[in-house]
Amino acid sequence: MAELTALFRPQSVAVVGASKQPGKIGNAVMKNILASGYRGAVYPINPKESEILGVTCHPSVSAVPANIDMAVLSVPAAQVLAVARECGEKKVKALTIITAGFKEIGKEGLDLEKKLLLLCSQYDMRMLGPNCVGLMDTHTPINASFAATFLSKGEIAFLSQSGAILLAILDWSETAELGFSKVVSLGNKADLSEIDFIEDAANDPYTRVILCYIEDIVDGPRFIEVAGRAAKKKPVIVFKSGVSQAGAQAASSHTGALAGSDLAYDTAFEQCGVIRAHSMTELFDLAVAFSKSAIPAGDRVAVVTNSGGPGIIATDNIEMLGLQMARFEKNTIEELRANLPQEAGIYNPVDVLGDAGVDRYEFALQKVMEDSNVDSVLVLVCPTAVTQPVEVSHTILRARDAYPGKPVFAAYTGGQSLAKGAGLLSGAGVPCFTFPEPAIVCLKGLNSYGQYLNARAVADERVLAGVDQKTVKAVFYDATRDHRLILLGSEAAEAANAYGIPTAPIVLATTPEEAVEAADKMGYPVVLKASSPKILHKTDVGGVIVGINSAAEVQKAFIEIMESVHRYLPKVVIYGIEVQKMKEPGTELIIGMTRDLQFGPLIAFGLGGIYVNLLKDVAFRLASDLKNAKKIEEMISETKAYTLLKGYRGEAPKDMAAVIDVIRRTALFVTDFPEITEMDINPLFAYKKGVSAVDVKITIS
Ligand code: COA
Repeated sequence: MAELTALFRPQSVAVVGASKQPGKIGNAVMKNILASGYRGAVYPINPKESEILGVTCHPSVSAVPANIDMAVLSVPAAQVLAVARECGEKKVKALTIITAGFKEIGKEGLDLEKKLLLLCSQYDMRMLGPNCVGLMDTHTPINASFAATFLSKGEIAFLSQSGAILLAILDWSETAELGFSKVVSLGNKADLSEIDFIEDAANDPYTRVILCYIEDIVDGPRFIEVAGRAAKKKPVIVFKSGVSQAGAQAASSHTGALAGSDLAYDTAFEQCGVIRAHSMTELFDLAVAFSKSAIPAGDRVAVVTNSGGPGIIATDNIEMLGLQMARFEKNTIEELRANLPQEAGIYNPVDVLGDAGVDRYEFALQKVMEDSNVDSVLVLVCPTAVTQPVEVSHTILRARDAYPGKPVFAAYTGGQSLAKGAGLLSGAGVPCFTFPEPAIVCLKGLNSYGQYLNARAVADERVLAGVDQKTVKAVFYDATRDHRLILLGSEAAEAANAYGIPTAPIVLATTPEEAVEAADKMGYPVVLKASSPKILHKTDVGGVIVGINSAAEVQKAFIEIMESVHRYLPKVVIYGIEVQKMKEPGTELIIGMTRDLQFGPLIAFGLGGIYVNLLKDVAFRLASDLKNAKKIEEMISETKAYTLLKGYRGEAPKDMAAVIDVIRRTALFVTDFPEITEMDINPLFAYKKGVSAVDVKITIS
């Protein structure tokens, strides 16, 4: 992104609010820029001073007799607009605004921030912040921040929405001997956000891994697009804290209730190949793993250990995270059996036993590394009187060098006696942890990323035939004119049907005669249901009668339902009685949608019926990810419903293509109509041939 050159590689920098007084932010920023070895021109701006830290000071930006690429603002909030305008007039390309007192303090601050943003766009200036710590680039080099330390050079770009977390990490990184290419404190993200910086870091030759700490994403679709492109080039690892607003909003559909608080983020990250960390520790463990390790070819892990317990813990975690314990080739097993003591474990995990010296590790490691059924290796070391941690470390390093495509991780579970060996590994680029679990989290991250890189792109399928937007608009118009946000069953079915979703015929009748006419037309048996958006559980108030086989029964059922509902709920308005063709039961499925504020429609698929919330057999995808049959079948295959559809225990397989078609059409429907806030098709009956939506619920805004 060309605009960001002015931030990371400026030819000249002005510090507005530069100060002589130690302890002031304007003083720290000046000191940091000078100490970082920045080679461009620096212009401190302060009307009271002629020189600051030995550099000529100017009273204002306009008084500087040269062009300015970036201005760092460290003046009180009340001054920021005037200074920014002056910068605009001076044709400054980018602002880094450290000043606090904007959106984060409430309405007044938000108004000020909006004015600032408007001003920046008027003058074509990009803005980092406000309310941020600043930025650093170790390769320019420049430290335009008020952090206490500069960074060591490295290949990690770190973007943080929290200034405090950024400062803490910088401090910690020195002890952890971690280097960075650049760090950015995002602040209030009024203009530039993590999306812009991810895009920039993806194209930065000095960055190998992109790390983000974020609390929200404002533009979900753009994030998915940009991060997805970035992730094809280098790993993007995100720790997102905070609960999403989608979770906070009360859900009235099954799908909404099933989606939970943070699911849209999980789904979106998976869609665009972003690796999600669940803590700061994980974020940096993953950063180390990705910057030092190869991407494994697959998910089969071999474990070599000198103790049983950690071996079991590792096995449990490998399986829990969806990786596989490698099944060794016959030859490997035979060689291990022939050369290790009889008591040793020769299957995976390979237990070289507590009395193992370096020789057994060397042999076992050699064998599992050369086994073509092994994609990565985890070496576990516990301290015994005969353990040789340093020698084992050398062995691991030799193995890593001999098989550069297979990641090797280690967990040295102990204290001082293992420290030297562990340090040797970490220093030489083999991630070494104290316990096995984080090593496996990293292996999982590497494997997920590998899968993302290897996934073959599948073309989006054409817009589907049989889509009638006019009918949907008319249905929605009628409902809103009637001040209803929850559609009647017959309306919801009509709208879904207009998008080619096969629904069981359903007609709203206001008299027994109309009901009979409808039933005669659609054919028996039929079901009669009270029609009112106010009645959530119709059966409980005698509002549903099934298995009706004749006109006389229809007449009778109509009156019975009306009387019963009036008795239970005398004040509720009933719109009439819905007559629906009774369908033979099929495999009961649910297809639903809940709308996430950041990422848009989130589609659910799983086992339907009345036990849907109990069974929770549901997979989710963003609608934007469901544009071809392959992706949809992948989603279906994550559920137990998939096994049923394929034909369980001798049952005939169900019409998978028709189910896929309904999911595709639902995704298109809710994307085309953003006013749909929630939708449930439950149940959708799946048959040997075809499907039928028996109950459709739609809520609009
Ligand atoms: N042009 C140039 N210099 C100006 C100026 C202007 N328009 N207005 C003020 N100054 C000078 C002041 O004279 C002062 O210089 P001095 O030290 O020589 O007296 C200097 O700029 C700073 O102004 P001052 O009024 O002393 O403010 P301050 O340094 O106490 O605070 C901020 C300024 C920006 C640091 C403060 O308002 C702030 O926002 N602090 C919080 C920062 C923060 O936490 N950011 C987010 C981190 S996550």
